[in-house]
Amino acid sequence: MILVTGSAGFIGANFVLDWFLQHDEAVVSLDKLTYAGNLENLASLKDDPRHVLVQGDIGDSALLNKLLALHRPRAIVNFAAESHVDRSIHGPEDFIQTNIVGTFHLLEAVRAYWGGLTAQEKTDFRFLHVSTDEVYGSLSPSDPAFTEEHSYQPNSPYSASKAASDHLVRAYHHTYGLPVLTTNCSNNYGPYHFPEKLIPLLIVNSLAGKNLPVYGDGQQIRDWLYVTDHCAAIRCVLQKGRAGETYNIGGWNEKANLEIVHTVCALLDEFRPRDDGLSYKSQIVFVADRPGHDRRYAIDASKIARELGWKPAETFDSGIRKTVQWYLDNQGWVSNVQSGNYRQWVEKNYTGRS
Ligand code: NAD
Ligand code: DAU
Repeated sequence: MILVTGSAGFIGANFVLDWFLQHDEAVVSLDKLTYAGNLENLASLKDDPRHVLVQGDIGDSALLNKLLALHRPRAIVNFAAESHVDRSIHGPEDFIQTNIVGTFHLLEAVRAYWGGLTAQEKTDFRFLHVSTDEVYGSLSPSDPAFTEEHSYQPNSPYSASKAASDHLVRAYHHTYGLPVLTTNCSNNYGPYHFPEKLIPLLIVNSLAGKNLPVYGDGQQIRDWLYVTDHCAAIRCVLQKGRAGETYNIGGWNEKANLEIVHTVCALLDEFRPRDDGLSYKSQIVFVADRPGHDRRYAIDASKIARELGWKPAETFDSGIRKTVQWYLDNQGWVSNVQSGNYRQWVEKNYTGRS
């Protein structure tokens, strides 16, 4: 079996759901169930004997030691993190605690467990750390896309905490020989995406008749990847990746934020036109920029294509249509995540933004 952390969040949940479409190999999920962790994402696995869900913290060494000894996983996939850049600007402490200290405790527990395996089990074991393109910093319009050799230049507390965790993972390979893999992926979108992030926020706000807040001039560029393509890439790296290596994962799909906003509005105009006949574009509002906002991310995903044979299956057109449709079909999921906690966040991040 494998141990997956952060599996009640956006990508972790998609990964576990997708895993069982490909395999019957059991999964133990470890998730702290922060505001971003949602058991409803895994509801279809409630009575599935292949899946065990444990609520807990990757920083809890005693719990980790117990879980590893009990389940004896052949691999760990570490998604658990605080993941939202804006939240890291308002309050970085949880990011330091989970992304750096938590990853350290997880690595320590895994190192002790791995040290007790047989020689063959040790060779076959993998610790796959899921990271982000944000660790590489910001590109100018003419810069080439990030390769795995690009230097680390994180600019937000979030990306700095992810960079620190990547360095720890690397060090555990070089110092202790732990067979690690690191993946650095671009922006994901798709089902179960928490509506604090751009694409689900746009859909949810559009339908609620609220403003569609665009930070700064809306010309920041991100490289978008449909979430199940990211899940397939992680499975591919887990199966075929060389221990100690890092692999960049991206969609070859750079888009300015304003283009994303216009695309989402156009799809909603098609699927669920407003009663007054106006376009959802009329709800767009330009607001104060994110401090330290990275201008452009772009991933060069040729290493994973060349060495492991992975390429994205979804185009942006097909992925974004499916995503908008998923939110229209899952309004109950949306209202359940819009708890008191979520409302407080919206007030904190957007009130007073000129
Ligand atoms: P998310 O915020 O939706 O989910 C994070 C999950 O981790 C939640 O279920 C939360 O409860 C859990 N968690 C948080 N702290 C924990 C702790 N201390 N112990 C155990 N569980 C804890 O995040 P996501 O968007 O699904 O991202 C998952 C991973 O992928 C993160 O490591 C993120 O940095 C990385 N990543 C995300 C993207 C993206 O576009 N969303 C792109 C590249 C990489
Ligand atoms: O690049 C990978 C990263 O992508 C992941 O590591 C992060 O976990 C994930 O959250 C995401 O980070 P971003 O900051 O790029 O995603 P977000 O959805 O928050 O914002 C996308 C872009 O849209 C960014 O340029 C900021 C802008 N934005 C965002 C929000 C929430 C707006 O213009 N308005 C908004 O209201």
